[in-house]
This record gives sequence, structure tokens and C-alpha cells, in this order.
Amino acid sequence: MDRQEANREVARLRQEIRHHDHLYYVRDEPRISDAAYDRLYHRLKDLEETFPELVTPDSPTQRVGGAPLDGFPAVDHAAPMLSLDSDQDEAALQRFDERLRKGLEGAAVAYTIEPKLDGASLEVVYRDGLLSGAATRGDGRRGEGITENARTIRSLPLRLQSDRRPIPPFLSLRGEVIMRIEEFDKLNERLVAAGRDPFANPRNVAAGALRQLDPRDTAAKPLDIYVYDILAVDWGDHAEQAPTRQWEVFERLRDWGLPVSSLSSRGETVEDILAYHADLDTRRDDLGFEIDGIVIKLDDLAARETLGTTSRHPRWAFAFKFPPRREITRLMQILPSVGRTGVVTPVAMLRPVELSGVTVSRATLHNREELARKDVREGDRVRIQRAGDVIPQVLEVIPEPDRERAAPWAMPERCPSCDTPLIDKGPFVLCPNSFECPAQLEGRLIHFASRDALDIEGLGEKSVRLFVAEKLVTNLPDIFDLEARPLMSLEGFGKKSATDLVAAIATASNAELHRFLYGLGIPEVGVTTARDLARHFGTFEALRQADDAALQEVAGVGPRVSEEIVAFFAEERYRAVLDALLDGRVTLVEPGPPEPQDEAGEPPLAGKKMVFTGGLGELSRRQAKELAEGLGAKVTGSVSKATDYVVAGEDPGSKYDKAVALDIEILDADGFLALLAEHGVTP
Ligand code: IVH
Repeated sequence: MDRQEANREVARLRQEIRHHDHLYYVRDEPRISDAAYDRLYHRLKDLEETFPELVTPDSPTQRVGGAPLDGFPAVDHAAPMLSLDSDQDEAALQRFDERLRKGLEGAAVAYTIEPKLDGASLEVVYRDGLLSGAATRGDGRRGEGITENARTIRSLPLRLQSDRRPIPPFLSLRGEVIMRIEEFDKLNERLVAAGRDPFANPRNVAAGALRQLDPRDTAAKPLDIYVYDILAVDWGDHAEQAPTRQWEVFERLRDWGLPVSSLSSRGETVEDILAYHADLDTRRDDLGFEIDGIVIKLDDLAARETLGTTSRHPRWAFAFKFPPRREITRLMQILPSVGRTGVVTPVAMLRPVELSGVTVSRATLHNREELARKDVREGDRVRIQRAGDVIPQVLEVIPEPDRERAAPWAMPERCPSCDTPLIDKGPFVLCPNSFECPAQLEGRLIHFASRDALDIEGLGEKSVRLFVAEKLVTNLPDIFDLEARPLMSLEGFGKKSATDLVAAIATASNAELHRFLYGLGIPEVGVTTARDLARHFGTFEALRQADDAALQEVAGVGPRVSEEIVAFFAEERYRAVLDALLDGRVTLVEPGPPEPQDEAGEPPLAGKKMVFTGGLGELSRRQAKELAEGLGAKVTGSVSKATDYVVAGEDPGSKYDKAVALDIEILDADGFLALLAEHGVTP
């Protein structure tokens, strides 16, 4: 290929990759598989390596670049980045509305109502459509220049594009950088597993990641951004196109390819605002990222000028906050808790307290270093926090100068469950009695029966503890030998619950391979890895025989993971457990050879978005979802224009009406089964 051909090909690839980045990161509507995307990306990367003179800063390959800095340059913002007047009291919201109406002398008022994203505020500058600068908020007038770090945020376009609207020669925007809870939880799991302290909340991670001197350290923490405001702009020859309302600002930002929250709404009265606030508060745990309230802004941009700002806040906007997810309570006791891997962690037993609708009575203290660093002792008053879906944690001790404190807590010398002397292993304290320690057996059983593993209804924490205490179960395979009669006399059990449980265990004994794998609790093998392994190897035997090299062929399996898997299968006592399980107790449902593929090498429903509503008879929602995902479909919770299929079973909900309104293909249960059968899948 000569340089000219390469140039054309590079331009075409970049355009295509940008298009798919936009679909994936901004619109959340991917159209091609990860593998197909990787092919495009690697083709571009190869060409750029062969013809380095063709590399441009806005190429999708150039997100993580630049040498580490010694410090950040100070950057003046294009316009002050003000903060908001805020309160969680309804009365304060009323006062804001009244003041605003008075200031506008009774003119009609329209508001935009937006989620208040709990992240780090960022200024982003585009010159002639190219991302040319980014700065933290700093003191509001001046921040730190962190352009290279902002470039690693995949949803932030390196180049603005629109076929409908001109791109201004100069554009300064404001947005909020966040980390999604899924990423946050993954990060904290890794930290805790390595014996390090976890982060308190996603905001701290986002703010910290933006201020890394080496952009590669930022890129290692996947961040996201939503843009909500134009700080300053030069419209060039298109001043007549300038938006006049906040709502138009959102539309314009979207037109340019920028990520704008789809949760924003409009309203006119305090009632509208309260309704939005209440609605968002109930959905708060399902958004996938943290919000700490809502922001109300006057929609009419010209009218904002009339109201102006105080020294710190605009008079035309207000943040109506949610009640905090932090509370103060007393720590009654610290108990060592033995997990399924034998690691002993201190757990804080709290005086129960309500934290945004959930009663909390225990919180993790993670490890003894953290305990020592925070100097938490029994009897202390402590501030606790629930961040995202994570288990509540103890943030800090509230000093009480007049109170005498207990002595610092010490880890016991012997296992609280089996009395075996504990050992130090790196940052952890461990009970080495992996196979007989009742606490570890309990942990392993609870995990094995949990929702993402064998999903055995009725075999929760309480029954597991009881069965272990009564010695009805002394090893994992024993649960499949349980009989109903001896259970009936146990506390909390009757005839029905005992037979139901035995029946549930029998049903679960036909186990899908990936659930079984996850349930074994192999270190480093989570839900996703288990699924990938099952899909790749097809059978348990194939996986069990695999060596390091074969395991590492699976995407996402590196040396650390493969080492754990190999070690697990090599351990004599795990082998005995597996043999006992597979000797008639568990029948594995194995996917066999990899999924059917069409000619292009993609699963047949790759990129298709599917929504389920209503009951599907025999098929549970989860099974249906897994079958559809197995064919490459993406199953989402709500119907939009981008939805390809709505599967409507018995008693469908409002999603059905929405599908009709949007003219989306609707399948009933039989239609869904037919679609599966078309691609060689039968449940
Ligand atoms: S508007 C003058 N809108 O909340 C306009 N802020 O003090 C000021 N925030 O530091 C900001 N979501 O980082 C606005 N939809 C949203 C927001 C938002 C989050 C942050 C922002 C600011 C703080 C309020």
C-alpha cells in the first residue's frame, strides 16, 4: 500500500471508529461486537505504525499519550466556574422559586431539571472542533490543566462532528467526570484483595484519577463524563444559531456528539420539581452512577442575565440535594469474621441506623491496617457511609474528648470458628484450616448457592449456618445428599420448607457450567470470567485440563488468573470435592462448542437491543436474558427508539405500549422462542 492509499484508509478507519465510539460510549447503543471493533482499531494502529507521519492528535489511537508531567500548569477558565446554592430542605427550594419569580417580575418561568452528578467538575475546550484543553475547577477562576488526562475519557470526543450544526471555532464546556459504580466496585475489590485500603466513594476516585501526572495512570481508571453547560463560546459566522434556552443547549451538545444526561427534564412549578426529585430518588440505586441531588436551572438564557449572580452562586440555579448517605452511630463491638477464603476481617457491629432507606447494623473495617489507621475502637461514635452498592464502611471516628475509650482492638491469635492458630500472609491474617474450618465451609456454601452461582432458593446464610452447626453438612457436596426428614425438626423449618428446599437443591443440581464454575469460588474467577471460560472451553473437562497458555487465550484471563485456576485444579482436596460433586450429584449443562457465528464472525444478534416485559411462562426472565445474550443481543431495561425487539409475555407493562408507540418489533413468548430456534438455540 502506498502512502496515499494508506492516508485514505486511515481516514476511513478513524471515521468508522469514531462512529462506533459514539454509539458505544455516548449513546449506549453499540452496533458491532467488541471483536469487530478491535479489528478496526488494530488495523488503524498497524497503518499508523507503518506510516507514522499520518498520526494526528485526534486519532482514536491517541487517547493515552504524552509523557508524564512534573506538575500541572495553572489554567484560567474561559468563564468563572461558579458553584450552586444548595439545600436539602423543601422550604429552601420554595424560597428559591419565589425569589426567582420576583426577580423576573412575574414573567412565565420554565426550568430545566437535571441530575446532580456526584463527580469532579471539568472544563473542556474545543478549538475548531478539536479537543484542545481541559482543566479542573480549582478555585473557580483558575484550575489545573489536565488535558492529556481528559483525553483518556472514552465518552469525550477528541473531535466534534455534526451534519446538522456548525462547529464553533471556540467552545468551552462544563461537565462532571464520574466513575460508574460497576467500575468503582471492581477497583475496590482489587484493592481489598491486594490488602490495600479501598476508596470511600467514586467521586474521590474520579477526582484523583484526573490529577495523575502520568496519563496512563488516569487511563487505568475508566472514567465517564456528562456535559451540561456552555461556559463560553465564539459562534464565528453563526451567531444567529446560538441557543436561547438551556434545553436547546442540551440538544446542541448532543448534536455535536457530546455525552449529555438523558435524565434531564423540564418543569414549571415547585410541584414539578418535587415530583422529579422523588422519582429520581427512588431510581437512585439503579442509575449505575452516584448522584447527590437535582439541579434546577432557569431555562431562558437571556432571563438569567436579568437575575445575575451573587459573589459565588448564580441566582438562576439551585441544587436540591438528597438526604445524605452518611450517618453517625455507635460502634458496639468489633468481631473477627472468617471469609470463605480463610481471610479474617474485622467487622463493626453497629447500633442500627437508617441510611437512605436501608437499616444498617454492620459495616466492614476491611483489614487491620485500616483499623489501625482510622484508630477505630469498640464503643466509639463513628461516621458510616453507604456508597453505591458497596457494603457500608466506617469512615471515621467522631472524637468525644470526655469519654474514656476502649483499648485498641487486636486480632485474635486463633480462628474464632475452628480455633486453629491464625497465620500472617502478606497484609492478611488467615485461617489455614481451609477444608475443615466451619466458617470457611459456610462461606463456600453460601457462595455456591448464591444468585449468580447455583441460585438455590432457600439456601441462604441462615440455613447454611444452621446445617453446618448441626453437622448435617461437613463438606460442600453434602448439600446434595440432604434429605427432607431430618431438616423438618430444625428450628425455622417445617415440612413444606424442608421439602421445598430439597426440591430446589435437586433442580439446581442441573447446573449451567458457568454458574458452577463461579460457584466453586476459584480466586480471581468472578461472574464474567466464569462465563468467558465456559464459553471458550465448552466443557468442564476441557477447562480442567487447560494449562496456563490455553487459559490465557481467553480474553480477560492473564497470568494471575490462570495461575489461580491451575492451582485450584491441582489441589488434591479440591479435586476430591469436584469428583464427589460430579459423581452423580451435579449434572453440568455445558455449552459445548462455541456459539453459532455468521460469516462475518459475529454472533447473529450482535448489536441488537432487546427489552423484556411480562411473564414468559416456563422460562424465567433471567434464562431468557441469558439466551438472548448468548446470541449477542444486548438486553436493556427500557424501551427507546434504539430498541430492536420488545419481547412481551403475559401481562406486559407500559413497555409494551411504548413499543407500540415507537413502532418497535414486538415478539410474544412463542415469537421469542422462534427467534432463538432460528439461530439453533432451544432452552
Ligand atoms: S451547574 C453555574 N449542573 O455540582 C452552574 N452542576 O456546586 C454551576 N454538578 O461543582 C453548575 N451536576 O460540579 C451543574 N447538572 C449539573 C451538575 C452540577 C453536578 C456539580 C458541579 C458543581 C456542583 C454544584
